[in-house]
Amino acid sequence: MSTLTTIQGIDNTSYETVLEVKDLSFKYSKKQPLVLENISINFASNNLTIISGPNGSGKTTLMKHFTGLLTPQSGKIIVFGKPMTRKNKREIQKLIGIVFENPDEQIFFPKVYDDISFGPRNMELSWEEIRKRVDLALEEVQITHLQDRITFNLSYGEKKKVAFAGILAMQPRIIVLDEPTAGIDPWTKPRLIEIIRSFKRKRTVIVITHDLDLMQIADRILLLKNGKTVGDFSSFDKFYTKEFQV
Ligand SMILES: Nc1ncnc2c1ncn2[C@@H]1O[C@H](COP(=O)(O)OP(=O)(O)O)[C@@H](O)[C@H]1O
Ligand SMILES: [Mg+2]
Repeated sequence: MSTLTTIQGIDNTSYETVLEVKDLSFKYSKKQPLVLENISINFASNNLTIISGPNGSGKTTLMKHFTGLLTPQSGKIIVFGKPMTRKNKREIQKLIGIVFENPDEQIFFPKVYDDISFGPRNMELSWEEIRKRVDLALEEVQITHLQDRITFNLSYGEKKKVAFAGILAMQPRIIVLDEPTAGIDPWTKPRLIEIIRSFKRKRTVIVITHDLDLMQIADRILLLKNGKTVGDFSSFDKFYTKEFQV
């Protein structure tokens, strides 16, 4: 179930909202100041939205609210029209896949195939369906040739792709990538960016990054500073002109 919403500042187009952050405020502890303050964002279906901002602006903290890894002090997360509650959190986690910044936090199995199939294996699917999903995920990130490799021998870039594939294999409707190009060399990066761009063909993509190369593929750029949304741009050029050209 989803709602049709018009969002201000995005050329006034109507589109389907798949994820909504509503008046969200958060702090890690009572004594700390707010890390996120009154954030409201609607994410459109099959769009690639980038959330950018300086280190420490609250990007990762915000992302952790999308699947209930953190609970806001006030405000709501609404996924496909349903407000997140403690009860429906697990259902919502099936719809939103998060790839964390560090692939070593996400890869658990010694063999690539076993790691990528772990999610689908826990979804009560047939072996054929599991195989099909893993094959598709491997193809989508172009690592079919790595399926029999040992995970800890992989390069950092290859590990990132294995982490992507593990999430894709669960076929979430929304995929969230935290700093996917961090630590990736400039030779490997363009190909990785193309892979990320291709993700939106089948799903909604949210990318957290301050990498200007990666930001160029955005349909929309949200700028976060000190826990507040301070900008909402419909193209990289508009963002860059406003932010860096005086
Ligand atoms: N687990 C935590 N406990 C307390 N403070 C935290 C924790 N994680 C992050 N912070 C603080 O919250 C702020 C936002 O951090 P983060 O969301 O990681 O920013 P970003 O991802 O934009 O770099 C920072 O000031 C950071 O120090
Ligand atoms: Mg971060």
